[in-house]
Amino acid sequence: MRANHSLSFGIFLTLAITIVVYGQGRSGYISIDCGIPPYDTPEDTMAKINYVSDDAFITTGVNFNVSEEYGALSNPVLPSTLAEVRAFPQGNRNCYTLKTFQGKGNRYLIRAWFMYGNYDGKKALPEFDLYVNVNFWSTVKFKDASDQIIKEILSFAESETIYVCLVNKGKGTPFISGLELRPVNSSIYGTEFGRNVSLVLYRRWDIGYLNGTGRYQDDRFDRIWSPYSSNISWNSIVTSAYIDVFQNGYAPPDEVIKTAASPKSDDDPLELLWTSDDPNSRFYAYLYFAELEALEKNETRKINILWNGSPFSETSFVPSSKYSMTFSNPRAFTGNDHLISLQKTTDSTLPPILNAIEIFTVQSLDEFYTRTDDVHAIESIKETYKVNKVWSGDPCSPRLFPWEGIGCSYSTNSYHQIKSLNLSSSGLQGPIVLTFRNLSLLESLDLSNNDLQQNVPEFLADMKYLKLLNLKGNNFTGVIPNSLIKRLKAGLLALSVDDQNLCNSGSCQDKKKNNMVVPIAVATSVIVLIVVLVIIWIILRQRKKGAYIGPLLPSGKRRFTYNELSRITNNFNQVIGKGGFGIVYLGSLENGTKIAVKMINDSSLGKPKESLSSRASNQFQVEAELLLTVHHRNLASFVGYCDDDRSMALIYEYMANGNLQDYLSSENAEDLSWEKRLHIAIDSAQGLEYLHDGCRPPIVHRDVKTANILLNDNLEAKIADFGLSKVFPEDDLSHAVTTVMGTPGYIDPEHYRTFVLNEKSDVFSFGIVLLELITGQRAIIKTEEGDNISVVDYVWPFFEARELDGIVDPLLRGDFSEDSAWKFVEVAMSCVRERGSSRPTMNQIVTELKQCLAAELDREPQSH
Ligand SMILES: *[C@@H]1O[C@H](CO)[C@@H](O)[C@H](O)[C@H]1NC(C)=O
Ligand SMILES: *[C@@H]1O[C@H](CO)[C@@H](O)[C@H](O)[C@H]1NC(C)=O
Ligand SMILES: *[C@@H]1O[C@H](CO)[C@@H](O)[C@H](O)[C@H]1NC(C)=O
Ligand SMILES: *[C@@H]1O[C@H](CO)[C@@H](O)[C@H](O)[C@H]1NC(C)=O
Ligand SMILES: *[C@@H]1O[C@H](CO)[C@@H](O)[C@H](O)[C@H]1NC(C)=O
Ligand SMILES: *[C@@H]1O[C@H](CO)[C@@H](O)[C@H](O)[C@H]1NC(C)=O
Ligand SMILES: *[C@@H]1O[C@H](CO)[C@@H](O)[C@H](O)[C@H]1NC(C)=O
Ligand SMILES: *[C@@H]1O[C@H](CO)[C@@H](O)[C@H](O)[C@H]1NC(C)=O
Ligand SMILES: *[C@@H]1O[C@H](CO)[C@@H](O)[C@H](O)[C@H]1NC(C)=O
Repeated sequence: MRANHSLSFGIFLTLAITIVVYGQGRSGYISIDCGIPPYDTPEDTMAKINYVSDDAFITTGVNFNVSEEYGALSNPVLPSTLAEVRAFPQGNRNCYTLKTFQGKGNRYLIRAWFMYGNYDGKKALPEFDLYVNVNFWSTVKFKDASDQIIKEILSFAESETIYVCLVNKGKGTPFISGLELRPVNSSIYGTEFGRNVSLVLYRRWDIGYLNGTGRYQDDRFDRIWSPYSSNISWNSIVTSAYIDVFQNGYAPPDEVIKTAASPKSDDDPLELLWTSDDPNSRFYAYLYFAELEALEKNETRKINILWNGSPFSETSFVPSSKYSMTFSNPRAFTGNDHLISLQKTTDSTLPPILNAIEIFTVQSLDEFYTRTDDVHAIESIKETYKVNKVWSGDPCSPRLFPWEGIGCSYSTNSYHQIKSLNLSSSGLQGPIVLTFRNLSLLESLDLSNNDLQQNVPEFLADMKYLKLLNLKGNNFTGVIPNSLIKRLKAGLLALSVDDQNLCNSGSCQDKKKNNMVVPIAVATSVIVLIVVLVIIWIILRQRKKGAYIGPLLPSGKRRFTYNELSRITNNFNQVIGKGGFGIVYLGSLENGTKIAVKMINDSSLGKPKESLSSRASNQFQVEAELLLTVHHRNLASFVGYCDDDRSMALIYEYMANGNLQDYLSSENAEDLSWEKRLHIAIDSAQGLEYLHDGCRPPIVHRDVKTANILLNDNLEAKIADFGLSKVFPEDDLSHAVTTVMGTPGYIDPEHYRTFVLNEKSDVFSFGIVLLELITGQRAIIKTEEGDNISVVDYVWPFFEARELDGIVDPLLRGDFSEDSAWKFVEVAMSCVRERGSSRPTMNQIVTELKQCLAAELDREPQSH
């Protein structure tokens, strides 16, 4: 079946392309009428261009017809592409893949058409963003359901393939009606920025427009020209003489170049003005001229072009009657108001003319792509396993919307890299293919709950950055390769596999053991092996370095002695915090790196160290070492730990801006804009998401609060104190644990009632953090009457009455997007729902917070 289908499809595609490529001078055109059935090829009657269905260009989305009242029957002049749409309810980012014929390095005109036409019957106008490849193109926003929006951009192809992506910003489902790509001569439309920018069409006016359609068959770039409507009346000039339009490459169509306007009175200038909302927009104008009148010997027409009163080019010029001329500004225009004025020179006897003008804004191409090796590998994985996800366009960019299941590290000066891949429950079948190894920077790989078979391959151990590997819930045969077990032992890898693969290796003693805790199960079952390994290693190491440092720790991580800590912290002389487990001191490593040393002291443990069971102590070591492997940019990173006969301590990186609680109540809060708050919220949500979803077994923080969110000098937020509840399990240290099980104001009421603890308890506490961020209040607020109320009870009445003003921190002075803030409040309130099961997951929260950020970034700049 499948083979048949793709065969006929292949033939269809060839036919369609043949028509498009060899249709008169239309070589390289791609013309897509989005939303029509696969075998339809309607013709646009104006442009005489055949359109094809979008099936060959995108695999996601759903087709709709616009509703009858907006369709072709009610509106006979409706451009044919607007009658149907393809909508994208799934996925944040859906991309069309346009394979260019001329390929890389050439310039293309890309045009997208939109008309909402109430296609979904919801009468709700969506708003969404367009991207070309990884760079922002434009926002699509409608005035009403019949509003016809056409977006156009001139872009250089950076590879054979151009992606046109529709991005869901949380303001309605993106859709598209038509999409076109036309090759454009690369040596025209120059700007001072060379190939570093795209040009987004602002206006294209045929100034002397008399009659016509605006879209002409003889425009080889298929530009659409509009009449310029003005309340100033101009004289029209028309010619039927031959004018060479190809000489300078711009090739305006005959209908456009053969009409022009000139001022009614010979001495007046000819003026065009436009106003831009954004004073930072950079404009380029391209003006077209050709002399259309037969001049007498004693007549001359000589023109000066001025922009806002300054000459546009150095010299005046005389329009030619033989060929068309094009002038553009050498430097971009900026500012709100733009007035282009054409004036006759003093020695000119005739008034100025203008035949046509195009105005563009410049769009910088400053976003980076994903590393090519990563892209090839992930595309190949997508192909091999027929991954059923909305995976299109560049995997990592635009950065707010990477592919689902993919995590990237973003760079400001180089390629982005894929760091995590989550293909859990994605229906993967077959063996683990070698291609995974090509994702060589991968730190986390989750392949759980698929139907993967055959052996667990040895090469996984070669992926040197891999710290987390989840293979559970598959149908692997054979044993786990030794090389992987070795990495596990070394604390370099957290590995989750099914019991059967361990038991087959003959090392399983207790089949009933929960396989989530494989690291520990393995650790105990093969303890003999470790001891041998460690001894051998120690001997080797001692030979090499002459000093014993500790067991195998991830690179850069250390095991400290009490004496070392004492030296590093200058005899524990600077206290920077007090936590549930003890006092935190400032320290400084030999290389000057500042660190925070959390001493787990006797009093906080409730008993002296010597009296702790040796099991607790071992447990500390196991857990501390596991924590050293947990790494995420939004988790305060561990530098090492100490566990000698005098003390236990955890050593973290030091964060210059302290914790969020202090920050919010300091005068720094004055400068904490809504955007910065959103970044803090997203950072911390990602940290928690990683603890919940990225760690195996998942880590429930248990003490999420603003005091446990640290800020570095760039105000990037990191979650601190995670994993402590694991380090000190209740049965051994019940006293200590009850003191950190939660902080008043943050405790999940359901957990309090039922003692059931899971990730959703963290979600509740995180909801309180979000409320503190938006209100600027503490988790528990003292009312004027002297009562203590929770921030939830404080927000609730305003939330019900939908009064944003009552909620938002007055320090923000109203400087925020209301859409963004409301959505934020809604997310926060959903986190603090009574029932854990109806609270969102951290993963959903991250997505929603990113949409809040997108809404805020998208806001029209406020004038102060
Ligand atoms: C759109 O309308 C045509 C007939 O006018 C119909 O054949 C087609 O199935 C409709 N498409 C959708 C997605 O409803
Ligand atoms: C384009 O960008 C590159 C790299 O940033 C720079 O070296 C080059 O000068 C730029 N070209 C122009 C014309 O601005
Ligand atoms: C406009 O239309 C009239 C007749 O409809 C025609 O004679 C004239 O040439 C057209 N003008 C242009 C510039 O095409
Ligand atoms: C054109 O119309 C606008 C408002 O419609 C007016 O402000 C402007 O002065 C008019 N310009 C001329 C030259 O009449
Ligand atoms: C592109 O434009 C240049 C002039 O800028 C011209 O010389 C060249 O022939 C044009 N190329 C094509 C394919 O039309
Ligand atoms: C140009 O010469 C013609 C006669 O050939 C005359 O009618 C006209 O006024 C002259 N125009 C100017 C601007 O001198
Ligand atoms: C993986 O990498 C190897 C060499 O490093 C290369 O030959 C192969 O083509 C790559 N595979 C994919 C799918 O990118
Ligand atoms: C696991 O694989 C074997 C063959 O390799 C097959 O017989 C068996 O049905 C598979 N089990 C599942 C649950 O898919
Ligand atoms: C992968 O995704 C699944 C489902 O979304 C989630 O349960 C799991 O925790 C994720 N794994 C990692 C390592 O993030």
